Amino acid sequence: VTTEVGIVGGGPAGLMLSHLLAKAGIDNIVVEKRDHETIRTTHRAGILEHGSVSLLTESGVDTRVLNEGHRHDGIDLRFGGESHRIDFRDLVGESVWLYPQNEVFVDLAASRERDGGDVRYSACDTEVLDITTDTPKIRFTESDGTPVEIRCRILVGADGSQSICRKAIPGDVRTDHFIEYPFAWFGILTEAPPSAPELIYARSDHGFALISQRNESVQRMYFQCDPSEDASTWSEERIWDELQKRVDGPDGFELKRGPIFEQMVLPFRSYVCEPMRHGNLFLAGDAGHTVPPTGAKGLNLALADVRVLFRALDSFFSTGSSDLLDAYSDTALERVWKAQNFSYWMTSMLHTREDATLFENKRALGELAAVVGSRYGQQYLAEAYTGWPDR
Ligand code: DHB
Repeated sequence: VTTEVGIVGGGPAGLMLSHLLAKAGIDNIVVEKRDHETIRTTHRAGILEHGSVSLLTESGVDTRVLNEGHRHDGIDLRFGGESHRIDFRDLVGESVWLYPQNEVFVDLAASRERDGGDVRYSACDTEVLDITTDTPKIRFTESDGTPVEIRCRILVGADGSQSICRKAIPGDVRTDHFIEYPFAWFGILTEAPPSAPELIYARSDHGFALISQRNESVQRMYFQCDPSEDASTWSEERIWDELQKRVDGPDGFELKRGPIFEQMVLPFRSYVCEPMRHGNLFLAGDAGHTVPPTGAKGLNLALADVRVLFRALDSFFSTGSSDLLDAYSDTALERVWKAQNFSYWMTSMLHTREDATLFENKRALGELAAVVGSRYGQQYLAEAYTGWPDR
């Protein structure tokens, strides 16, 4: 088969790009190795920048995010047992939306299906070939064993952090920037009422905790743990005690407990592939970069890549000019590095290290005090968290 844009990866980035291209009359096919159900039930982050919400609603994907999501006008930074509200609306006039990434996937998948989009789920042994020619190809095997070759004009790798597309870029033309962290997140889903109306990012002597929500009856929480921790050995009581220790304070704040129905360890790192383009292959989302989860930038950064890439592809297919495609990697990477900095900064400021000296711990508290004690400090955090405007 032949198409204009071949997209490897049917997560939010791949499907969003497919949707925008189809609306602009640009033919495309998406190839995804997982099935719909697996993606739908994989829990990821839950915060959408205002720009991500506009992309979904203005492109006609759905307004479910507005009806079923929750607008959050701020977050709490909690340290020394005290909460400090960062008021996004007052500081930068923006908000974010609490709406889980798997719901974004559900909306996008439904929208592609409704519009007759060509999305091949459960693809096996996917390969990309001829990426530096004008007819790059995707080869894969359908779940029924049929071999397929898709010939396209442009190839997009939106296939996540384990990207096969990225691996097709020769090592001598790409730089892999990455750092590891000596901690991971222990994430839970619990059937309980919300403990707070907004997210709480807490630093304590016992480590980081994040109190997030899903809806009136389901809550999402995380705490910093050792990357080698075995989540299945933790009793519910031990988990609740650990979370509570990290938010304890003189104000007597108490988490509302309930049955825990999911518990897992989520390792993370910071990674950037530079450049995000080779020949006629373009990387978008986690295929090109991953961020640590503190600050919820992952999905938002993926959708920001897609906005930039869509404009470049639209210009290429309507005018034949490759100027915007040639600028894609630099344009996307400018935002990527800002988000890398923000995610690294939030992570380092809020997590504790076992080998930290008293000086380092006091310094981090000084940093937090400097942020919450200054409108300028708060404003930087609010602007980064709610999302920088596109260039
Ligand atoms: C959630 C996850 C994050 O990494 C974050 O920074 C905020 C919220 C969440 O799953 O709700």
